[in-house]
This record gives sequence, structure tokens and C-alpha cells, in this order.
Amino acid sequence: MERIFITGANRGIGLELVRQYLRRDDTRIFATARQPETAAELQALAATNPERLTILPLAVTNEAAITEAVQAVAEQVDALDIVINNAGMNPPGIQTLDAITAETMQTVFTVNAVAPLLIARAFQGLLAKGSNPRLANVSTQVGSMTWKKSGGSYAYAASKAALNMVTRCLSADLHPAGIITIMLHPGWVQTDMGGPSASLTPEESASGIISLISGLTEADNGLFFKWNGEPHPW
Ligand SMILES: NC(=O)c1ccc[n+]([C@@H]2O[C@H](COP(=O)([O-])OP(=O)(O)OC[C@H]3O[C@@H](n4cnc5c(N)ncnc54)[C@H](OP(=O)(O)O)[C@@H]3O)[C@@H](O)[C@H]2O)c1
Repeated sequence: MERIFITGANRGIGLELVRQYLRRDDTRIFATARQPETAAELQALAATNPERLTILPLAVTNEAAITEAVQAVAEQVDALDIVINNAGMNPPGIQTLDAITAETMQTVFTVNAVAPLLIARAFQGLLAKGSNPRLANVSTQVGSMTWKKSGGSYAYAASKAALNMVTRCLSADLHPAGIITIMLHPGWVQTDMGGPSASLTPEESASGIISLISGLTEADNGLFFKWNGEPHPW
């Protein structure tokens, strides 16, 4: 059985990851949402898969809630095999050079870079007991020094570049426990964040991400991938 923990699972890529992991045999999923009571699609999946999907409340910036999520998972399973830090934010319209504020920078950093670090640290014990344990942090091409040549997106781009460095550090610190840590660009995806013109459907992105995570080996530790398994430039 594969035991999987996914943040930001009420919509977008996170919701589709849950849907597709449920289609695989022998998976046990813990999916988080800030407001489980309004997560209708996730609730519907849990209603039809009550033994295999547990929804947990988690605002990723709330450290006490992270601790509670670890405890809730540990009450049901002895270990986790996969943790996916998927939750993220990219507030539109306020990240130009003229508009960006210290508050926006800090808020987005906290969600996109700090929270995945704290979640990884909190879940490392459960992961260390897992089978072929893997930690996947969902980054973006916008956080790549090589790829990003345009201006703007200050908070989002810088926070994801920071997440990439956090991931590199984690890949070294968690390696002795046997955990493979990677970051991935999910593609430009048709979600609330990606918008309707994006090139990939959530189905295509999630399917690629699941294949990528399934095939990870120790040699992949600390690397940056695209959803389709190709290496991503730094
Ligand atoms: N879509 C793309 O083209 C694209 C491209 C590159 C990278 N990504 C990355 O892929 C990941 C998923 O993106 P998406 O396209 O699925 O975005 P989305 O549709 O906007 O969904 C974002 C998810 O993150 C959750 N979230 C945001 N802030 C949170 C917080 N403080 N605490 C807990 N949950 C929080 C949201 O919960 P609420 O519903 O409660 O807000 C939602 O579940 C993100 O990390 C994003 O940066 C997306």
C-alpha cells in the first residue's frame, strides 16, 4: 500500500492528484484543505472512498495545524511513503515592480517557501518509516533563474526560487533517513492559478507528476523536474 499526503487538495492540481491516486490500487490518501467543509469535490471523493481518503484541515501557514495534521495521520497509519507539498499562491495584479509591497512578498514567501519546509520537517518522522519514501515540492518554471527572463511576479518567482533552495537543503538533510526529495514544475496547467489558456489539463499534469514520483530513485534526490519527467533547468 502507498500512503500519500497531499496539501492544497480541494481544487486544481492537488484535487486531480487525489482523484488519480484513488484510481490506483492500494493507495491510502490524506488530503488537506483550508476549509474541508466547503471542499465539495474532495468531500464527494471521500464519500465514495471512505477507507482510503481522509480529509484534514490545514492552512499551511498555521504551525499548530501542521502538528495536528501529523498527529491525525499517525493515528491512522504508521508511516507515509509520499508527501506532496502542492499548496501555493500567486496573487494576481499586485506583483508588478510598481505594485509589489513588503507585505505581499512576506505573505507569498510564507505560503510558498516557509510552509513546505515546516511541513517537510514535521512529516520527516512518518516519511522515514515509509517504503521508498519521497518528498515532492511543487515549484514552477517561474522560479528558475534560467527560464525566467521577464519582469514582474516578484513574490511568486522569488518564493519558488527560495522553495527550490529549501528543497536542495532538505534533500541533503533527509537523505540519511532514506528520503528522496525533489522539486517539480507541474507545467502550465488549466486551474484557477494557471487560467483557461494554459497548455495542460489538470489530468495531464497530475498523470505526469504521479509517473514521475513513482519512478524516482536515489539518483534523483535533490533534482528539479518537469511534470513529464524531463530535467528542469535551474
Ligand atoms: N497552474 C499552473 O499553471 C501552475 C504552474 C506552475 C506551478 N504551479 C504550482 O502548482 C501548485 C498547485 O497550483 P494550482 O494550479 O492547482 O493552484 P490553485 O488551483 O490556485 O490551487 C491552489 C491550492 O493551494 C491552496 N492554498 C493556497 N494557499 C494556502 C494556504 N495558505 N494554506 C493551505 N492551502 C493553501 C488552495 O487552497 P484554497 O482553495 O483554500 O485557496 C488550493 O487548494 C502550486 O504550488 C502552484 O504554485 C501551478
